[in-house]
Amino acid sequence: MKVLGIETSCDDTSVALYDSEGGVAENLVSSQVDLHDHFGGVVPELASRAHLVNLLPLVEVLLERQQLRLQDLDGVAVTAGPGLIGALLVGLSTGKALAMAADLPLVGVHHIEGHILANALTAEMQLPAVVLVASGGHTELIHMPLIGRYERLGGTLDDAAGEAFDKTAKLLGLPYPGGPQIDRLARQGTPGGFSFPRPLQKDPRLAFSFSGLKTAVRTAVDGLPRPLEPQTVADVCHELQEAIVDSLCAKLFAAARKKHVGAVYLAGGVSANGRLRERVAREARQRRLHFVAPDRVYSTDNAAMIAYAGYCQLRAGRRDSLDLDSFPRGPIVSWA
Ligand SMILES: Nc1ncnc2c1ncn2[C@@H]1O[C@H](COP(=O)(O)OP(=O)(O)OP(=O)(O)O)[C@@H](O)[C@H]1O
Ligand SMILES: [Mg+2]
Repeated sequence: MKVLGIETSCDDTSVALYDSEGGVAENLVSSQVDLHDHFGGVVPELASRAHLVNLLPLVEVLLERQQLRLQDLDGVAVTAGPGLIGALLVGLSTGKALAMAADLPLVGVHHIEGHILANALTAEMQLPAVVLVASGGHTELIHMPLIGRYERLGGTLDDAAGEAFDKTAKLLGLPYPGGPQIDRLARQGTPGGFSFPRPLQKDPRLAFSFSGLKTAVRTAVDGLPRPLEPQTVADVCHELQEAIVDSLCAKLFAAARKKHVGAVYLAGGVSANGRLRERVAREARQRRLHFVAPDRVYSTDNAAMIAYAGYCQLRAGRRDSLDLDSFPRGPIVSWA
């Protein structure tokens, strides 16, 4: 089965082809980072316009490279939400038009299900598992007994982990998105120079809170001489990353204990973080839990994960009508 995936929920235009015979045949991503960098964050209207310009040419390149016609496909999977509504609409309308033109089944995919199933593109997932979804807009713990069945165990009370990386990076004068910058600089940081909070560590809830980090970082750097020394910036990045990773790890393993699962997974853009992968791998080993980090190309937004999630739904006999709507927010829903 050959499934075309389309992802336009935020600032990456992506199309992919998942083939049940050979896996991901193509995963094309056109990043808009340069477009939004100047504004220090994603400008929704600019994102929608860029998707409009880039999406169909990407589909054409994909078909050309794969020597396929639209009619040779077996389905179209498109991110229906959550995300920026204008950006989602571009992808959904295009997906519907392509499905209608070639009489193909259409499935709408929840973006977070895509992030979770990105793990299956790296290695077969061992289930039941607990998945820590940590991205630009989400930080939540999901219990997953099987593909298509998801139970939300808890999540952030305020900012998402990716948002915490991005907002604090901005305070330090680093370019957008801040996560990869902090990941890189933290390696050169000396431990112990700064101290940042780890909220809710003694709280029994499976919850996170990252909004206080921004204030803590601002307070710490406010008294320092300007311009900030590169080594000082690296030291702040190091401690900041430790605080975020500590919070994420503590609740991920608490959730795994609570649900008695034998495997844990990471999903979403923050799963690209080197320190988080290292810490989860080490602690999973100590607890004899199965863990394989997702391929970095499938950590941040991409259409391969959407194509694969769509394939799983189509294989199970699901399909959506052309009345399918996009949605800006909403929890992951089970379909299996
Ligand atoms: N190496 C890294 N370390 C830490 N954070 C990272 C790293 N790479 C990417 N990120 C963060 O991941 C986020 C982007 O992830 P993703 O593309 O999944 O988010 P999104 O699609 O905008 O949000 P959502 O998936 O919740 O809708 C950004 O906040 C970015 O800073
Ligand atoms: Mg995402």
